[in-house]
Amino acid sequence: MADVKITVRRNGPFRVEAAPGSIEVVDADGNAYDLSARMKEGKLAFSLCRCGGSVNKPFCDGTHSKIGFQAAEAAVKASDQAQSGTTAQSGLPPEADASRLKV
Ligand code: FES
Repeated sequence: MADVKITVRRNGPFRVEAAPGSIEVVDADGNAYDLSARMKEGKLAFSLCRCGGSVNKPFCDGTHSKIGFQAAEAAVKASDQAQSGTTAQSGLPPEADASRLKV
């Protein structure tokens, strides 16, 4: 098993579970967040917001439930993406994938 497990919660955050000291979360300036209060049953566990609504970013504060956040969750194999004509990076068809636009 990997040292760090990230679970994509259904219509919710990214749940991160790791051995103590094996992971660090830093802000844009490289300053580390204090994760000491996020120990649970001998392992580090916290949730990262992916809905954009948390007032405690980058951590989830449960706002996703209040705003009815909906997200695509299923892990898609690269071979399935190729078959459906989507891009591996975004899962979108090439014409809809803005990350592929050249400016
Ligand atoms: S995912 Fe929970 S507040 Fe954003």
